[in-house]
Amino acid sequence: MDLRNHHRPLPCESTPMSLKESRPWKSFPTHLLNPVLYESIPTGLRRFLKLLLPKIQTLRTSRSKPLNSEEAVVFKVHDQCDASLFKSISSAHRKQIHREPWPNFSELDLSQYDNALRVEAAHQWATRAGAEHSSVFQFSQLSQALSLACVPIEILGALARLITDEVRHVQLCLNVAKACAPPEWSHLLKLPAPYAPWAPFNSDARRDELLAWASRAVLLACCLGESLSKPMLEVIALQSTEPVIEAATLQILRDEELHSLFGWETLRYLMNELSPEAIEVLHGALPRAFAGLEQTTAHGITVADLVGKRLTVTRSKETPNLGVLSAIQSATVFYSTLDSMIFPELKKLGFDPQRAWQQRFHQPA
Ligand SMILES: [Fe+2]
Ligand SMILES: [Fe+2]
Repeated sequence: MDLRNHHRPLPCESTPMSLKESRPWKSFPTHLLNPVLYESIPTGLRRFLKLLLPKIQTLRTSRSKPLNSEEAVVFKVHDQCDASLFKSISSAHRKQIHREPWPNFSELDLSQYDNALRVEAAHQWATRAGAEHSSVFQFSQLSQALSLACVPIEILGALARLITDEVRHVQLCLNVAKACAPPEWSHLLKLPAPYAPWAPFNSDARRDELLAWASRAVLLACCLGESLSKPMLEVIALQSTEPVIEAATLQILRDEELHSLFGWETLRYLMNELSPEAIEVLHGALPRAFAGLEQTTAHGITVADLVGKRLTVTRSKETPNLGVLSAIQSATVFYSTLDSMIFPELKKLGFDPQRAWQQRFHQPA
């Protein structure tokens, strides 16, 4: 489904969000503007845009207390990225051992919802299930490559947990999709074949080659993919009008936060093992990765398109939502998360994300 055809007008909302400070998209990434387009804007207008842009990212909700204190702690995990590698990864592993009770999907009665709303939700949840299934496939490959490379067992332990998390996410997403889908839409619930954005590793490869392969996989799947999933799921949880769907989303959200942490910490370890030449090759993977993510996540919406718009997240009976993310929400969260979280983390690892972002124009997606 092309989400560009499914925009709904953004609702107006006046109540400030209680966890506004913890949102990653509180400032707007002006430097992500298409440089050609940005340079064509007259200087006076540019100054005006710089004043205006921060105001378009005000995230608001009608909920008085959208997330509990436990989640607030989870959101601070990235502040601890400078802790020792194995301490962080072991901690992530331990946190993932705790499982929330399975949401009671039998309580989910969606018969009062509009059919079109249910179909759209079923499609999005089935698509999410497919992406989660691909994560199972990708992390299984990664686990094999890193096992062959004999990396520290703490990494393999956390990675094994990631795989079971992703299997659980597939099941959660499929359950929601099944509940949302009207009977005539049951064909949506078939999982497509899993996908990985890289060629399989060669099991006869040398250790340094395995680590180079694994570094690219961790960069793409964990550092970029998982880091983007988390804020997307936050928006979905915040605006869902069905408690069971919110509960399923929050369960996935908690895991994805830890998967992102695993990615950054593991990439740091792997890069310390790589030769300068292999690191250069890894840097070269970034423009294409940005191009692909922009194509699939921003839905054709550019930063310039978002100028003057306000991202508003609400939960109210007037705007029923079954866990559906609009194209403009997806694009706004994408650009803002790149700016506020992914670019800074990449810089810490020695990447030049700004340059890579500009080079994405020359890359096939
Ligand atoms: Fe997942
Ligand atoms: Fe994940």
